[in-house]
Amino acid sequence: MATIFSGVKPTGIPTLGNYLGALKHFVTYQEEHDCYFCVVNQHAITVPQDKLELRDNSRKLAALYLASGIDSDKSTLFIQSEVPAHTKMGWIMQCISYIGELERMTQFKDKSQNRVGVSSGLLTYPPLMAADILLYGTDIVPVGDDQKQHLELTRDLAERFNKQYNDIFTIPEVHIPKVGARIMDLGDPTKKMSKSDENSSGFISMLDDEKIIRKKIMRATTDSDATVKYDKENKPGVANLLTIYSLCSGKSIEQVEAEYEGKGYGDFKEGVAEAVIGQLKPIQDRYYQLLDSDELDDILDKGAEKAAFVANKMLAKAERAMGLERKRKKK
Ligand code: AMP
Ligand code: TRP
Repeated sequence: MATIFSGVKPTGIPTLGNYLGALKHFVTYQEEHDCYFCVVNQHAITVPQDKLELRDNSRKLAALYLASGIDSDKSTLFIQSEVPAHTKMGWIMQCISYIGELERMTQFKDKSQNRVGVSSGLLTYPPLMAADILLYGTDIVPVGDDQKQHLELTRDLAERFNKQYNDIFTIPEVHIPKVGARIMDLGDPTKKMSKSDENSSGFISMLDDEKIIRKKIMRATTDSDATVKYDKENKPGVANLLTIYSLCSGKSIEQVEAEYEGKGYGDFKEGVAEAVIGQLKPIQDRYYQLLDSDELDDILDKGAEKAAFVANKMLAKAERAMGLERKRKKK
């Protein structure tokens, strides 16, 4: 059975982009794979976080994984900082990474640009991500397309380690959804929808209520052409709404185009809003039940225990391969 690993940062409530590009797909792997899903809170602290918000967001994100359909009987759900093997393996990965290759990561460049006091953690973020993945002998990593470069680095680091020390790591493959790998901002459809955006009208949070969802979609940027057609280059706003509609309703893009032929953007946007609400409402209902339950903490306790059991074995192998274990004197 192939092993799956993926992670989401608890840096705010996940957006519709996170859901359609990541969480929704995670669920489909559960039946036939050994799945690990992680709240990567140590990745969150590469930029300053408010301590109470980070703490709450981590638990909320775990509840959203479950509410989205992650089943704790089938998958292991845990919080990164509760499994210390991650930072230990992260250090090993840092020591085999080159500064040059880390500086070339586009996410590092974007996030460090025009910022004072860039943490060294922002630079060494990808080796920690490699550690997350490699600890579980992961075969497949489902992510949105912004993570492609980090996955290439993970593969390089695994190959480098295997060659230099011992052949212990599986070389993971990245799975990027064909549709929805990059859901765009509603106001500026040339940039990706992000929960860390200052302007909340550009993203739909997974916990936005019906009224807000409707309002944000009705205000989404389109164009003056008034035809519902998928054309990413020339009609990025409409293309983004079509993608969202298609993924939330299960209809193909062509079906939606046909449905709205000869109709205006007002009707179309109402349809998009209904589809998004139809998708998110049941998740929200389940989320509020979970957040208030002991069940969530029990699941996270068990998840951390199971993850640590697997991760510690791989960590011991890596440490042994590098001479970090102690050879006891023979009695
Ligand atoms: P993050 O919130 O950066 O931890 O991202 C968690 C997951 O969501 C990763 O797999 C990302 O690639 C994916 N993701 C984030 N933003 C988007 C987006 N706008 N569209 C599609 N996938 C996304
Ligand atoms: N870097 C990922 C993001 O920003 C989150 C992440 C951390 C991750 N570790 C991971 C994703 C391991 C997949 C596998 O979205």
